[in-house]
Amino acid sequence: MTAFNNDAPIGVFDSGVGGLSVLRAIHSKLPEENLIYVADSGNAPYGDRDGDFIATRATKITEFLLASGAKAIVVACNTVSVVAIERLRSWCPVPVVAMEPAIKPASQNTKTGVIGVLATRRTIASPSVARLCEAHGKNVEILLQPCPGLVEQVEKAELLSDASRALLLGYISPLLAAGADTLVLGCTHYPFLSQLIRDIVGPNIAIVDPAVAVALQVERRLGDHRVSAPRTQPAEARFFSSADPNDARAIISALWGREVAVQGMD
Ligand code: DGL
Repeated sequence: MTAFNNDAPIGVFDSGVGGLSVLRAIHSKLPEENLIYVADSGNAPYGDRDGDFIATRATKITEFLLASGAKAIVVACNTVSVVAIERLRSWCPVPVVAMEPAIKPASQNTKTGVIGVLATRRTIASPSVARLCEAHGKNVEILLQPCPGLVEQVEKAELLSDASRALLLGYISPLLAAGADTLVLGCTHYPFLSQLIRDIVGPNIAIVDPAVAVALQVERRLGDHRVSAPRTQPAEARFFSSADPNDARAIISALWGREVAVQGMD
């Protein structure tokens, strides 16, 4: 196995800025870890693209992260995870942590026996989601709701706009009408719409974001491979984007919660 410095960075990527919801959970759980984040915002959304395009971008970005010294890769994108994870794991020399919609915990915790899953069209239609429904849907009704347009709203930083609210209302209202008491956020962009979602559903609906569970999984995998960072190390996060650099800096700084530099990548 390739040897890595314990202070090497964790490489994290997404089709765009959504994976920052996972990055913040990793940073909060593992503040001593150096991080590199790639937002492929120049090519977002991935949700309606074909599988080969998504797999090719995932390969290219992973190669970039490895060339930057990444000791582990986090695919902070459900869509890439359901389309390309086997291919990525088949050649990637470092641990790869991926996402999946949190259907299992939601099914275990629902009281009404009805859960709603919000995700991209591609994730909803994937064999991975079909397998999760088969495994956990015996006694629970799992309502799958594709949400075209939401990724674009987050990429435009429209976290509270009327247009975002209208889209969400259209997607969530039928789920509530069908008795869902739990909503799974099956796309890493959607946690940035949590405030609007909470406004729409009220206080009694559970909203499940798997980011913290993913951060725990990252911690475990680093431990298994003995590449966790030393506890005392002051960590840094570096950001790259395939979008226009000024746009990318504005949106990433807004979502990350402080002004950051963003470098370009193809
Ligand atoms: N954040 C990505 C996900 O979790 C969005 C994919 C897209 O760009 O459509 O699926």
